[in-house]
Amino acid sequence: MSQRVNFMAGATTALTVLAALASSPVPSQTPAASPTSAPAQTAAPSPAPGAPASGAPAASPSAPSATADFPFDKGKAADGATKSAVCTACHGPNGNSVNPDWPRLAGQSAVYIAEQLRLFRAGVRNNPVMKPLAATLTDQDIDDLAVYYEGQTPQGLEADPSYWKAGEALYLRGDHAHQVPGCVACHGPVGRGNLAAGYPALRAQQSVYLVKQLNDYANGTRYSGPDPATASRNGVMMFTIAKRLSPEQMRDLASYLQGMR
Ligand code: HEC
Ligand code: HEC
Repeated sequence: MSQRVNFMAGATTALTVLAALASSPVPSQTPAASPTSAPAQTAAPSPAPGAPASGAPAASPSAPSATADFPFDKGKAADGATKSAVCTACHGPNGNSVNPDWPRLAGQSAVYIAEQLRLFRAGVRNNPVMKPLAATLTDQDIDDLAVYYEGQTPQGLEADPSYWKAGEALYLRGDHAHQVPGCVACHGPVGRGNLAAGYPALRAQQSVYLVKQLNDYANGTRYSGPDPATASRNGVMMFTIAKRLSPEQMRDLASYLQGMR
């Protein structure tokens, strides 16, 4: 039986994946599994390196539904550009961080950025660097910064040649033996995430940062509070998936994602 999965199938499995992750309850805010008019992501559907060519749109009709926040039209990018001056020291010019510990924000989903900034501000994502910074931001600042960064272009980093092929295979097909779904189902064929659902982009992300986040999900420390897995709207999915990844798989995936254009 062929393990080869095309992107259409990948997108279609997104909901199956959600159901299969049912060892933990899906939070009630999770979009219902009904057909939706969620617009396709704006990404040009250029295939990932080595991926099967497919004219299929990135978001199929059965992809996760849009959040109420999409399209994200609350912020002003021009104001966000001004306000981003304080962020540039760490997140880099236009959100292209050059420090492996500091995530790139260029091209990241605005819905996701706004959610994460509110989680930092509330101390739920309890990072000692970001929490005090986010505490200084108003709701308007957060919305302006989110649309500004979503509009920036991520600049490619290089994948580690020893690891990216194994990472690509996992990204596209998952690891059936350990019930790991292909990441492509939710993070998209070119790693742009799912803008309508607010699932984060991963392409051209710093691999050191990615490994840290996967470990934080796996050991339950990405969020704090009585039930960290359900502390964010969609976090439960990654708490479940990351626990099933070995350290080598995390490394391979992160290497592939860092080089993804
Ligand atoms: C002193 C360095 C520093 C500054 C300044 C800074 N950040 Fe961060 N930021 C970080 C670090 C470190 C993380 C990763 C935290 C973690 O590991 O969970 C992060 C994470 C984030 C994330 C989450 C990214 C993701 O992919 O989940 C967002 C969004 C963010 N920062 C936005 C901002 C904004 C907007 C500003 C300016 C108002 C800013 N940051 C200023 C260091 C910084
Ligand atoms: C069922 C959908 C789904 C699948 C499949 C999935 N993810 Fe995710 N992922 C998400 C969502 C939703 C988030 C944001 C969760 C939150 O609120 O913290 C996320 C977040 C992440 C983050 C944190 C991003 C950041 O900027 O901090 C990483 C890293 C990640 N996923 C990697 C992966 C990898 C690697 C795979 C494949 C092994 C994968 N994901 C499979 C939905 C998914």
